[in-house]
Amino acid sequence: MQKDNTAAQRQTKRLERLADQGLYRKSILVHKECNKVFENLKPYFANPKSIDDLKKLADKILTAKPVNVAKVRQISPFRYPGGKTWLVPEIKKWIFGLNFRPSLFIEPFAGGGISSLSMAIEDLVDRVFMAELDPDVAAVWKTILSDPEYLCDRILNFEVNRNNVLEIINSEPQNTKQRAFKTIIKNRTQRGGIIAPGASLVKSGENGKGLKSRWYPDTLVRRIRIISEFKYKIEFHEEDAFKIINKFKNDSNAIFFIDPPYTAGGKKAGKRLYKYNHINHENLFSEMAKVKGKFIMTYDDTDEVIELAKDFNFLVSKVPMKNTHHEVKYELLIKKPD
Ligand SMILES: C[S@@+](CC[C@H](N)C(=O)[O-])C[C@H]1O[C@@H](n2cnc3c(N)ncnc32)[C@H](O)[C@@H]1O
Repeated sequence: MQKDNTAAQRQTKRLERLADQGLYRKSILVHKECNKVFENLKPYFANPKSIDDLKKLADKILTAKPVNVAKVRQISPFRYPGGKTWLVPEIKKWIFGLNFRPSLFIEPFAGGGISSLSMAIEDLVDRVFMAELDPDVAAVWKTILSDPEYLCDRILNFEVNRNNVLEIINSEPQNTKQRAFKTIIKNRTQRGGIIAPGASLVKSGENGKGLKSRWYPDTLVRRIRIISEFKYKIEFHEEDAFKIINKFKNDSNAIFFIDPPYTAGGKKAGKRLYKYNHINHENLFSEMAKVKGKFIMTYDDTDEVIELAKDFNFLVSKVPMKNTHHEVKYELLIKKPD
């Protein structure tokens, strides 16, 4: 379409004429009949003198320090790519701010599940419900909740060296338990904990310790045993997130934590990190709009996601986090208005 230069020029001239009369785009024109209402509203306007204070406050929020992850009790056996350990304090704050005790915490994109585990173990909710589509990840949760000692035994008796690791990675598991162990080995010895196809083994790793740099058998076993002690509060399903959201959408006492693969706005990160990464984000927002309970969603900070949240009248805020290169990045927290 051709741009109408004449119309644009006419508009510029009009604005210039108004400026000559002291009227700018930010001026407010009030009809004399509305003057009384306008006077009543005036106390609620921001005082221009407060603008500096408001700006300082906004700067303070935007430069808020990222959460110190070391203060969060790590309880997941996974080192999960895109894991939300750093967000746990925010989720706790959110739950403390609700004026009821949630009966159920639902995490439909569970991955490493640190949020669900923290809420269950710290007793912020009655029960947690985790769902995950990836059968490799699902196998770990199913085994921890049904036969944790199988995993503990294999972990404690496994010697990490290149041959042993490759033997497990190239094996064809015959059952869920074997699949769970293979997933743990991949998660601990592949770069960035990525278990999706295409991931390679770590090379030098932390302190040049190579394949062993993320292998802490005693810690893993301790975590698995703690989780299994809380199994009466934890439910896991190998299911599609959308099905789970639909299942609980009418439960106003249930709360949701939604952390999908970040693929909105053409972002590639989620594609490399997870085997299952195809999400219709608009559909997800539309399903969340139908949910009766409260929810919190996380996304990376992109214009597309902010626009989508606006379309559904959701509230958006930004939280700082440190990425793997120790740079401070912001992520979006999206909630339903009260
Ligand atoms: C960003 S990660 C979740 C990370 C998790 N919050 C944590 O702290 O470890 C997204 C997860 O969603 C899973 N996923 C992708 N599509 C799914 C679907 N349709 N239903 C359930 N899970 C899905 C992926 O396999 C991946 O584990």
